[in-house]
Formats: sequence, C-alpha cells, structure tokens
Amino acid sequence: MGGRDYEIYSVEELKSRAPKLFGVASGVEGLDDLFYKVEYEDGEIIKKPLGGYPYLGVLNITGVADTGKSLMVEQFAVKQASLGYNTIFVTVETPKEFIAQSLKYRAMAMGIDFGEVEKRLFIIDAASNAQLREDLDVLFDTLAYGIKEYNVKNVVIDSITGLFEAKEVMARMVVRKVYNFLKKWHQTALLVSQKRSSSEEMSAEAAGGYGVAHIVDGTIVLYKKVIMTRYDSNTFGLPIGSVVRLFRIDGCRMTGHDSRTYVMEITETGLVKIVAPLADYYKKTGFGR
Ligand SMILES: Nc1ncnc2c1ncn2[C@@H]1O[C@H](COP(=O)(O)OP(=O)(O)O)[C@@H](O)[C@H]1O
Ligand SMILES: [Mg+2]
Repeated sequence: MGGRDYEIYSVEELKSRAPKLFGVASGVEGLDDLFYKVEYEDGEIIKKPLGGYPYLGVLNITGVADTGKSLMVEQFAVKQASLGYNTIFVTVETPKEFIAQSLKYRAMAMGIDFGEVEKRLFIIDAASNAQLREDLDVLFDTLAYGIKEYNVKNVVIDSITGLFEAKEVMARMVVRKVYNFLKKWHQTALLVSQKRSSSEEMSAEAAGGYGVAHIVDGTIVLYKKVIMTRYDSNTFGLPIGSVVRLFRIDGCRMTGHDSRTYVMEITETGLVKIVAPLADYYKKTGFGR
C-alpha cells in the first residue's frame, strides 16, 4: 500500500497525518460540550469543550425502541446541513418519503429554514430496497457515489441493526466493514443500533452483542424509564406514570467526554435535549427525600 513493502509506520511520520480534533455540531441542545479535549497551557492541564461529536468519529447510538435515537440523528443531519455540510441519511427502517417529512419537522422545530437545508440532505432508502439492505457492496457503491458526487461530510445510518437483521452472527463483520468504509471516506458518522432487550438498559450492549460497541469510536446510550412504583416515584420526585429519559456517553476513544448520566427530554415539538446531570437534577426536584 502506498508503495511500501511492509505495513509498518513510524509514529513520527504518522504525526503529520493525524486528523485535527474538533467538534461537529450535534444539533442537540446541551450535548456539544459533553465532549472535550485536554490541552496543556503553561504546564497546566485544561479541559476545552469540543463543541460537538469528534470530527471523523464513527459513533454508535444505542437504546431500546422509543428512546429518541432517530430524533437525535435527524437533528444532527439537519444541523449539519444548516451549517453547509452535505449529509447522507441511510434509512433502513422507514421509507424515504417519511424520513424527508421527519427531517422537515425537525428543521421547523429547530428554527431552521428547510428550504435552505433540503438541498444538502440526501437519503439512501435501504428500507424500500432489499439489495441496499442485504448487500453491503451495493450500499457502499451507492454511498461512495453520493459522497463523491455531492461532497458529503457526514453519514447517518438508522439503523445499522437493520443491516444484519435475522443474521446477528454477522453483526461484528457488518459493523467492522461499515466502520472501515466510513473511515476511508473521511466521514463523521452516527450509527443507530437497537438494543435487543431491556435488561441492563443503560449498558452499551446493542443487538449483535458487546462486540459492536468495541468496533466503533464511541457509544451513546439512551434510556427511558416509566415511573410505575411508589419507590421510583419517591426516588425521582415524579408522579406515577411519568417518563424519565436518560442519556450517557458510554465511551469515546477519540476524545475526552463527560461520563455522567444525564436527564434527557423530548420537547413537545419533537426535539431531544440534554437537561442536566441526573444527580444534580434530582437534588433540585426531590431526589433522596
Ligand atoms: N414531534 C414529536 N413530538 C413529540 N414527541 C415526539 C415527536 N416525535 C417523536 N416523539 C416521541 O419521541 C420518542 C422517541 O422517538 P424516536 O426518536 O423515533 O425513537 P427511537 O428511534 O429511539 O425508536 C417517541 O416515543 C415519540 O413518541
Ligand atoms: Mg428509530
């Protein structure tokens, strides 16, 4: 490769090739500053907010159904388009017309003029097209064409789980290939993955097993809890029947990140936002009373 006889590199030569570390705006209120970088100034270590997902990172967003994964990645696509960065949305579960509509609603709720962003948003419909869903080479050809043709900077796949449906043994292989493809094409990417069960709900284990989380650069876990017992009602200071949504960055090997559990909210207009660390939040609303 590259005219080399052997695949070995000095760290010195790789230094100049390391991508710059900066944030790619998420479109989610309260999320961008949860990633940070560490710098040294006058011999002191200081934490600087990254301002988004790490550039060129491939992140996994996992949670059971109805935890806000799709809203979160739609917000990312719309935000990036509004900043002038072309984005491809690979839909594996919902046909393209519905995604287009959904992106429009997200833009409206975010106060972004959809007329300005729709030309920067591209959809690959693997929900309606079985070949795209079942043959990775066909999907990669389509993605590569789109990335080149439209100068695309970000890719969303909702969901990666849909690419190995009924063949979970293939999960790691599929995720690894998708990951390598996105790296090769210099994309910042979000992969949605469905959690298969509600056991260990705040864990990073996705459908396909823990292995999936180890392949990508980082994982975000979303969680939803319905308050159904007096105990939970007292603990969270919320009436029976209310919903608590939680968010946590489970790991990221590219950059520093807040690792606390946060309270998350889905607004009336359908926007995910990060509210406050769980511990602080319930100090105010009655946690521990
Ligand atoms: N426009 C909206 N207004 C209010 N709530 C919404 C809106 N759109 C979606 N939701 C709620 O947000 C939740 C999460 O949706 P979604 O992102 O589709 O979840 P996931 O992709 O994790 O299954 C759903 O329970 C849904 O009821
Ligand atoms: Mg979804």
